[in-house]
Amino acid sequence: MSQHFQHDVLVIGSGAAGLSLALTLPAHLRIAVLSKGELSQGSTFWAQGGVAAVLDDSDTVESHVQDTLDAGGGLCREDAVRFTVEHSREAIEWLIEQGVPFTHDHEPSEDGGFEFHLTREGGHSHRRIIHAADATGAAIFNTLLEKARQCPNIELLSQKVAVDLITERKLGIKGKRCLGAYVLDRDSGEVDTFSARFTVLACGGASKVYLYTSNPDGNSGDGIAMAWRAGCRVGNLEFNQFHPTCLYHPQAKSFLMTEALRGEGALLRLPNGERFMPRFDERAELAPRDIVARAIDHEMKRLGIDCVYLDISHKPADFIKAHFPTVYERCLDFGIDITREPIPVVPAAHYTCGGVVVDQHGHTDVPNLYAIGETTFTGLHGANRLASNSLLECFVYARSAAADILEKLPNTPLSSSLPSWDASQVTDSDEDVIIAHNWDELRRFMWDYVGIVRTNKRLQRALHRVRLLLSEIDEFYSNYKVSRDLIELRNLALVAELIIRSAMQRHESRGLHYTLDYPNQLPEAKDTILAPPIYRD
Ligand code: FAD
Ligand code: SIN
Repeated sequence: MSQHFQHDVLVIGSGAAGLSLALTLPAHLRIAVLSKGELSQGSTFWAQGGVAAVLDDSDTVESHVQDTLDAGGGLCREDAVRFTVEHSREAIEWLIEQGVPFTHDHEPSEDGGFEFHLTREGGHSHRRIIHAADATGAAIFNTLLEKARQCPNIELLSQKVAVDLITERKLGIKGKRCLGAYVLDRDSGEVDTFSARFTVLACGGASKVYLYTSNPDGNSGDGIAMAWRAGCRVGNLEFNQFHPTCLYHPQAKSFLMTEALRGEGALLRLPNGERFMPRFDERAELAPRDIVARAIDHEMKRLGIDCVYLDISHKPADFIKAHFPTVYERCLDFGIDITREPIPVVPAAHYTCGGVVVDQHGHTDVPNLYAIGETTFTGLHGANRLASNSLLECFVYARSAAADILEKLPNTPLSSSLPSWDASQVTDSDEDVIIAHNWDELRRFMWDYVGIVRTNKRLQRALHRVRLLLSEIDEFYSNYKVSRDLIELRNLALVAELIIRSAMQRHESRGLHYTLDYPNQLPEAKDTILAPPIYRD
């Protein structure tokens, strides 16, 4: 039997964005936080390098703003950048208050400067990345989760997969508000109804759309797809960030080699030991990610090699083990001692710079529906995200959305009766092999045709393929009971189509979008905004 639940705030996602929002709201609100798998499911738990923020006296807001704008290839919205950076210190102070065990500086300055160690990453002109060794995400996630567990008003619900948002429009009643969501309970197999005064999408990104990715399973763009189907615009989805350095090893599924390695002196080398980054950019290994990933891709294709090498072995072994214990241990598991030898690395899909269009409060185009974190397009990242700005964005926008929800609360009633999910027309599927095959096909052609280097022809080919897949998936969805795999495939295919359409609209190369047919950058920088048909109704 499917069930009905009522909350003041329904938060779909238990990563940095979702947990911060839940913890910022007052204790008298009934809040549900959903995760489609374990609560640690998303990217947050795996974040390594840290959080960028203006913390040191020698650093300035202006400098962080400028670095973000430079990395963003002329496409960042300056107001979003300023808003985020200006709130960076208070976001970090909040995390410290929650108890996040950030790494302390081993050599405290005599003038009583900032007590935490700040590392450096590509594109940053200052040391401004606060971190917990090389496992910052786990430290943040565990701390916030522990805090949330102590709050009786916050229900943490794992194995709950949001299928779709419930809106007045979809129910055929007057208005456009979001009223909650239909959610698959993976234990019972039933689709339950969650009604809420406010619904918040904090579902993370869509990098699983590519065959090779640094992301955990589950980053299938569900928030973007659900928002689109509910009538929200999406922005700049052509800008998928490829992280330059993921471990290249047959048994290492998506393990990242943090950019902080390069920040602390690691060098990129060809198999013959030659450094190549100085040929591509004067900042060499510390150029922004789009430049480094493209340079690696170029060298791999030029020389027909499977990987390049990241070398930190010239640093003292104690330093390496103290700063990068996770990376050191993980590589050792694969027989690579990073204190003595270089690490084989390749670029992999890492971050979705675009997403659901939101303002500074996380408002989407649908009333009572908010979106925060990697699911969104705030304008902060432009054509290429600056390293460690994404966790920062999660905290700043979660706090700002929470404040806005609180303000709107008195005038927002709960919708009393929502219809149950209708499963009367569907049967159990005996064709799961089709879902598995479509997953694989989609991710492979996205990697081959919509990857680091694009062309018109490749994009057209990808669009054709994705539309065939979408019609097959639609038929499947109408006839069979929903499962997590089917829900994710449906969302991933839709987001893939939106990525391809966005890429086709951009007749230039800028930041992460590089196409051989339009190799130059146009003088005017414009966002790519797509609107679903119902947005105009
Ligand atoms: P996530 O943490 O991805 O969480 C998404 C949540 O949504 C999960 O709980 C998931 O279960 C839930 N969810 C999704 N769909 C559904 C659904 N349909 N129903 C129910 N629940 C759903 N950024 C930095 O700034 N610094 C770093 O050092 C850094 N390192 C990184 C290292 C790695 C390996 C990776 C992959 C990313 C890294 N990033 C880093 C990026 C950053 O971690 C992410 O952008 C950020 O954590 C996203 O947080 P989020 O809360 O938006 O989503
Ligand atoms: C990393 O540690 O290299 C990831 C940082 C980021 O994605 O911002």
